[in-house]
Amino acid sequence: MSRIDRLIAAMTLAEKLGQLTMTASSYAVTGPVLAGDSTESIRNGTVGNLLNMVGAAHCHEMQKLAVEGSRLGIPLLIGLDIIHGHRTQFPVPLAEVATFDPGAWTMTAREAAIEATADGLAMTFAPMLDVSRDPRWGRGVEGPGEDPWLGRRLAEAKVRGFQGKELGAADSLAACAKHFCAYGAVTAGREYASVDVSERSVQEVYLPPFEAAVAAGVATIMPSFTDLDGVPMTTHARLLRGWLREKHGFDGVIVSDYNAIAELMNHGIAADRVEAATLALKAGVDIDMMADCYRHGLPTALERGMVTMDEIDTAVRRVLTLKERLGLFDDPYRRGRKADTPAAILKRRRLARDVAARCIVMLKNDHDTLPLGSLHKIAVIGPLADAAPQMAGPWGAAQEPEKHVSVLQGLRNALPASTEILYAPGVEISGEDTSGITAAVTLCDQADAVVLCVGEAAYMSGEAASRAYLDLPGQQRSFAEAALTRAKHCGKPVVVVLFSGRPLVVPWLVEQADAVLAAWFLGSEAGNALSDVLLGSISPTGRTPMSWPRALGQVPIFFGERPCGRPFNPKDHFTSKYIDSPNDPLFPFGHGLTYGRFVLSNLRVTPTQVRETDIIEVRVDVVNEGARAAEETVFLFSHDKVASVTRPLLELKGFAKIALRPGASGTVTLHLPATELRFPGLELTPVFEPGEVAILVGPCADRTKLLVASVQLAR
Ligand code: BGC
Repeated sequence: MSRIDRLIAAMTLAEKLGQLTMTASSYAVTGPVLAGDSTESIRNGTVGNLLNMVGAAHCHEMQKLAVEGSRLGIPLLIGLDIIHGHRTQFPVPLAEVATFDPGAWTMTAREAAIEATADGLAMTFAPMLDVSRDPRWGRGVEGPGEDPWLGRRLAEAKVRGFQGKELGAADSLAACAKHFCAYGAVTAGREYASVDVSERSVQEVYLPPFEAAVAAGVATIMPSFTDLDGVPMTTHARLLRGWLREKHGFDGVIVSDYNAIAELMNHGIAADRVEAATLALKAGVDIDMMADCYRHGLPTALERGMVTMDEIDTAVRRVLTLKERLGLFDDPYRRGRKADTPAAILKRRRLARDVAARCIVMLKNDHDTLPLGSLHKIAVIGPLADAAPQMAGPWGAAQEPEKHVSVLQGLRNALPASTEILYAPGVEISGEDTSGITAAVTLCDQADAVVLCVGEAAYMSGEAASRAYLDLPGQQRSFAEAALTRAKHCGKPVVVVLFSGRPLVVPWLVEQADAVLAAWFLGSEAGNALSDVLLGSISPTGRTPMSWPRALGQVPIFFGERPCGRPFNPKDHFTSKYIDSPNDPLFPFGHGLTYGRFVLSNLRVTPTQVRETDIIEVRVDVVNEGARAAEETVFLFSHDKVASVTRPLLELKGFAKIALRPGASGTVTLHLPATELRFPGLELTPVFEPGEVAILVGPCADRTKLLVASVQLAR
């Protein structure tokens, strides 16, 4: 008999339900303080999993209670939201996606895992893979942005990074693909709201990143809080049992979201905890996070014949198997035994700086305002200029905000002592006090250049942070307009450093500034990374993974829209348009300037007659006609012109980067497996249809900037 069989045979019902329960714990310097009765519950085997612990000593203390204090000695699974780094904070995921560099995505996850496991943790609730096309929703910051193909690449990279080569290694974390699925489509971008999207969109847009996570071997999956067309995801048997487990062979653990099983009562599909627990277990949810419905509801459900012991045992087996794969039975203390060396921490900070610099998206740079040349005096103004604690953005339970680098500090570190730095915050991020505006604005007169640091506070994106207005919060607009007017009046260039967890709607700001950097939230090394780009030691390479609207009324806005019968035609009134705004975004997906000037030409595609098993080779020449070395990102899109169902106007199928010195040229080669040109047909099953497919290549999703070729698909 295997260890797991033996354990299951020996377990009482209460002990089994303990393995299906995850409870929060907090910690204090004096030792762990557990929520409610957890300490005793760990000892008597009725809590088997914890979340929200930080610190190896605390984790080990709890582990000891389970391993040495409980009857069967089953180790605890301890997890935490390690979303973008642990103590060292890397850029928020949306920012990191802007690097379009899967290698970087893996490296930061790997480093986060090393740091978090050194702290005793075995599981993270990441990566978040919810495609998001509505910037009102605050959680877009945690995920891949607007495109499903990009979401697939992110899924693979992050799972690989967190889980390492082998889940049992002392520095591997169990990853959790969340939130399954279509959370990003909440009604009106409002957090936790209902989701109503077509089955086609579910298949084409929202599921693919999860499919990729499963293929990459993700250990756990979390259903989202939301419903999907009337069925809460926590009870969505067709997708959890059917699609995930049966169709895609996912045999890992499904862990509910925080209190989500109890919330089935609010959704209005369960009258009490017994019904809620029954629905979730039957749908395939193994661990009940924080709702305590399994412990309270399943005994009655079992008595009434609503669930079977077999169903409970199946879930218990999955949890125990995960603990076994994590190596917890062999050595429950393997994580947290070795503290990080100072050299490792230093290396991690370097990575954080390097990746952060590559996340920055230069939205605008008129008259080569950037990089800033040699300066006698620089004014660094705005409420986010000297705001170290804001730099990491949302999530970061274990972050050490005092070690984050502000913009002001970053510039101080980089500028020679001869450059004088003038600083004033002007206003608070969200306050109403305008008394500091004049003093800050006056600094523009004396300086050679102005760096205006504005945007959202860290807490304004992330969970429970939907916004109905996407302009600058508080009094920042009045302040920024005053500064821009004053600077223009005295002929001083203004560079806006814009912090946000989402695309903001700030056309007025972009219009008036000389240069704009989208800084997202860049993590511990934010200020150093920004000064690298501002001063030119690094040429910006970031590209926006979400479209930036001109007006809030344009959202949801994304490049993968399907065509319509009356496409916009300026000469024809009765076509698809707004009467008060252009249709296109202010900045399209993929937009991002560099310090180079790239020209693409000579698009070649082979073969042009394509069978389903072929791999299409796409080549394009790139030359840097600018005066500085830089890196260009080349995107590959397709468009199926005539198909049995309408196809998106552009579908992302690849990207590549090329670094070129001034005057240098090179060729970018991309490979597109023809199977990627399949789509869900009329019956929603994948089809490969003969006919012409356009292949479009260029620097962003703006059609007017794309080179076009075409291939013929043949059976
Ligand atoms: C969030 C999850 C998170 C969980 C545990 C929930 O509120 O939706 O993303 O993993 O809390 O902290």
